[in-house]
This record gives sequence, structure tokens and C-alpha cells, in this order.
Amino acid sequence: MKITLIFTLLIINNLHFCSAQNRTEQHRPQVHFSPAAHWMNDPNGMVYYKGEYHLFYQYYPDSSVWGPMHWGHAVSKDLVHWADLPTALFPDEKGYIFSGSAVVDADNTSGFGKKGGESPIIAIFTHHDMAKEKANAVDVETQAIAYSLDKGRTWTKYADNPVIKNPNIRDFRDPKVFWHAASKRWVMVLAAKDRVHFYNSQNLKEWTFGGEFGATEGAHTGVWECPDLFPMKVVGQNKTKWVLIVNIGSGAPNGGSGTQYFVGDFDGKTFRNGNSANKTLWFDYGKDNYAGVTWSNNPDGRRLFMGWMSNWQYAQTVPTEAWRSACTVARELGLQPTSEGLRLTQKPVRELKILRGPLLSNFSVRKVSNVGGEISESGEVFDNQFVTKDMELSFDLSQTTATSVNLVLSNSKNEKVEIGYDVATKQFFIDRTEGGKVEFSKDFVTGRQNALRLSTNSTVKMRIIVDVASVELFADDGSVAMTAIYFPNENFKNTSLFAKNGSAKGVKVAIWELKSIWK
Ligand code: FRU
Repeated sequence: MKITLIFTLLIINNLHFCSAQNRTEQHRPQVHFSPAAHWMNDPNGMVYYKGEYHLFYQYYPDSSVWGPMHWGHAVSKDLVHWADLPTALFPDEKGYIFSGSAVVDADNTSGFGKKGGESPIIAIFTHHDMAKEKANAVDVETQAIAYSLDKGRTWTKYADNPVIKNPNIRDFRDPKVFWHAASKRWVMVLAAKDRVHFYNSQNLKEWTFGGEFGATEGAHTGVWECPDLFPMKVVGQNKTKWVLIVNIGSGAPNGGSGTQYFVGDFDGKTFRNGNSANKTLWFDYGKDNYAGVTWSNNPDGRRLFMGWMSNWQYAQTVPTEAWRSACTVARELGLQPTSEGLRLTQKPVRELKILRGPLLSNFSVRKVSNVGGEISESGEVFDNQFVTKDMELSFDLSQTTATSVNLVLSNSKNEKVEIGYDVATKQFFIDRTEGGKVEFSKDFVTGRQNALRLSTNSTVKMRIIVDVASVELFADDGSVAMTAIYFPNENFKNTSLFAKNGSAKGVKVAIWELKSIWK
């Protein structure tokens, strides 16, 4: 009897798992993580442990708009395929569970670990007290921890939360914690309204204030949120610099919420900006990459990033009712010297290539090929079958007379999204003006989204990841990134390329179908 019951439970569990995986609705991303149902915003607590990449996320399981925040949970072995796990953290009497991070406490500094058991995974998050918010109090947000002793499956909140009380700052949230080897202690970076605070701890339970940064640096067009701080080796140099990511609620280059970063030094207590205070570096120039941070405890030295593929301007009104929002693809970051100083580069993780089908060879074109060719104003159609795809496109600027080179995703309803390079203004762009459903928010289309080119090479390179409802552009080996979502009334199956007001030469195109991660 008992065995039958266990068996039945296993089957039910499995069925639930399978149906949850079957994400096929209109606009449903096929190569990006999105929750089976209902609302998601920021990725949280990204941590690697024993073969699994954990992704937690701001989650409201009862509705497709923002509400009482939980931490949803998914895991992946390859950063590409995701499996849902039960909700990890639920709101409680201390508040909603806002964004935060997770670490593996391998040395059991917290004392939560049990002898011979798994290393504790500690989640560090913000409790947001709605009653206090409604009462217009200032001390709405405090920092709290929870731990898991079973590889992130079940969680216990620490009995003595908060671990950091509110210091009379209304916006005081989104702790990102890491082990700082040089000072042999944990460091927390935390958003505090218009700056970040640094705290230190030996045991993740008791924290002391170390320093702050940013009140007069970078962009201040919105509240600072979701910071991250990590060291990176400079590509080609025997030098390590610290990168401080700061998300900002409004005023990003193409409108709304966006991500800025600083490059400098960190001594365990405070950050020193290597650039002048009024210089703002932007992480992504599309409208739809927000609240991104990086994985902790990644075993192979890569710095891996994931963002939330939306924008607070319209996230709650996008035309998907069953669920709302997806994450970006996992990206590998680099720190590259350029003529303008050190800049972050980003590329899709190499694992994404496991989704590629064979290199498409039956282009319905005469001149464009993998070998190099010419395109003109009349353009070339080279794919009319795949909705989700990975493309590499390059051309030689020195032989190009066109004012722009445009890649067009389109459908039979005359809807289109254009991605390209504007030779005259030296800008990469994504234009979703005629991309289908756009009326749900006045902020969704406010013109073309642009990003100035950084490279001066004569070969312009674009890697483009196209999903059902999004495009991610990584230009010139990742030195410029743009992320944008869209909602066509019929999926974009046609892909074509044209050169405006002239021709482009030395054109190379490679295209692969990307297979769905849910099938
Ligand atoms: C960023 C953010 C965070 C906060 C969370 C609440 O998008 O506003 O600052 O913790 O979302 O869901």
C-alpha cells in the first residue's frame, strides 16, 4: 500500500513536471527561461553547487502582475535547459521576499551546516514590510538570511532575522554577498537609495558597515537597485580589476530601467572608481535587460550573468497573460582594454550552442553565403522557416557604400523588427516600431533603440540570438550588447538582409535553428 502510494505520488509529481515544461503559448520564449505561470521579475540567488546552476527569481505565483514577492526556483545543469523546483521562499510576517543573492558556505562559517551533511547554501535577501510601506514609514526594508542543507531544495529562515536593520533609508535592498579572499570574510554590497553600502561579516549573521560608494558617481536618474561586485582579470593583461554593477530604476539610455557599471578597485571595505565620476558606462543598450547580476561559486572561473528581459515601464502590461517575463540567455562577461578604457564584454555562454541545429545551407540567395558576398538595397531573403535562431553576420565597412545594413525579422502580416548597423551614425540598432503589438504601453516604442559602436575594426560583427519574442545582439565580440522584446501577431519566420542606399560587401552570414529548451 505504502509503496503504491509513493509510486502514485512520484507519477503525479512527474506529470506535473512534464506539463509545466510544455511552454508553447503565443509569445512564449523557447530558448529562454520563463516561469511556467504567472509573474516573474529579477533573477535572484544565482549560485552553483554540485553540478547545478540555481536560478531563483522574484515570483508572484498567484497572478501575472507584481504582488507579494516569493523566490521562485529553477535549476540547470548546462545554463540552457531549466527544470522548475518548488517555490523556495515565501513572504512572512516580516515582509515580502525581495531580491538578493546566495552563497555556498563551504567552511560552515554560519554554523548552520551539520557534520557530514551538505554545505549550507545561504540566501541573503531583503524583507520588505508592506504594512510599514503603507504607513509611510522609512524603515521598510531590512536584510535577512535563510539556509538550505539539502542542495537548495528546502529552506529555513534564520530565527534572528533581520541580520541588518534599517539605518533610516527608505530604499535599502538587494544584498549581493561574496567571499573576499584577501580579507578572509564575507562582503555584502547593498543598494542604499542613491549609492551602495558595503558590509563585512565572518559568519553571515553579524554584519558591520564597511563603507559606501556612488552618491556623486555615475547615473542618478532613478533609484539604485540590485548591485553586484566582482573581480575580473583584464583580457590579455596580468591585472585584476573590480567591476561594480548598479541597476537603476529609470533614465537608461533608451528609456526606463537599465544597468550601469563601474570599473575600479576594491579593498574589502570600499570601492574606488577608475573613471571620472561623471562617466556612466552602460551594460546593455536595449530596453529589456534589467536587474541582472552574476552567479556565485561558479567552478570554472567564468563570470556568468543573467538579467530580467523586461523594463519596469511596461513589464506588467506586456501581452502575455499566462506568465510574464523571461530571463536573458546566460552570458559570459569579460573585461577588455579599449581605446576608451576597460569595458565589459558579454557573449552568450558557449553552452547555448548545444541548441543549434545544422548550419543552414539552403539560403534562397545568390550572393550572400558563408564565404562572403554582396548585398544591395533589394536585399536577400535567407531564411523563411525558423523562429528561434542563432546568427552570425559580418561585413566589411571599408567596402560598404550603404548607409545601413539591416537584418529584418518579419511575418506575413507586414510586421517586422529590424536589427542592424547604421554606418552614418556609427550605431547598432534594434527597431521594433512595426513589431506587432505595441499599444499596451506608450513607452514600449519611443523610436529606434541605438547603441554607439565601440570597435574601430573595418569588419562589423553581429551575433544575434532570436527567440519567439526577443532579440539579443552582441556586436563586435560582445563589446556592445542590446536586448529587446517584441510581440508579433504571427511569429517571425522570415529573415532577410538588405543594405540601405547602397551596397555592403564582404558579407558573411551563418544561421542555425535553435531547438526549444522545453521539448
Ligand atoms: C528591481 C526590484 C528590486 C526589488 C525587487 C522587488 O527590479 O525593484 O530592487 O528587490 O525588484 O520585486
